[in-house]
Amino acid sequence: MDAVLTVRPDARLERFHPSTVHAAGEEVTVELRRSGKRLTVPADRTVLEAVREELPDVAYSCEQGFCGTCRVRVLAGVPDHRDEILTEREREHSMLICVSRARDGELTLDL
Ligand code: FES
Repeated sequence: MDAVLTVRPDARLERFHPSTVHAAGEEVTVELRRSGKRLTVPADRTVLEAVREELPDVAYSCEQGFCGTCRVRVLAGVPDHRDEILTEREREHSMLICVSRARDGELTLDL
């Protein structure tokens, strides 16, 4: 898959088994812009888990970064992308909140 992405960076790849993902990391502060809420995501929890406490109906499925169901538009901040399915173009404005975090500790999401 890495070789394909080298030649075709916008290629969409499908994985038929979960990759080994590490969703834990540094603490992240997340603003949910449309909901007017601000969350602190501890280092040992995912952004999705924290968001679900405030927005229980948020869409998700695999929780491992390969189905794309939890994809959310990013309004501010730089995601630390840990999925393997989004294209570089998709990564410019969205992230999968079940596995990805923030590079600088803060994100504003369109939720
Ligand atoms: S829930 Fe499947 S990629 Fe996030």
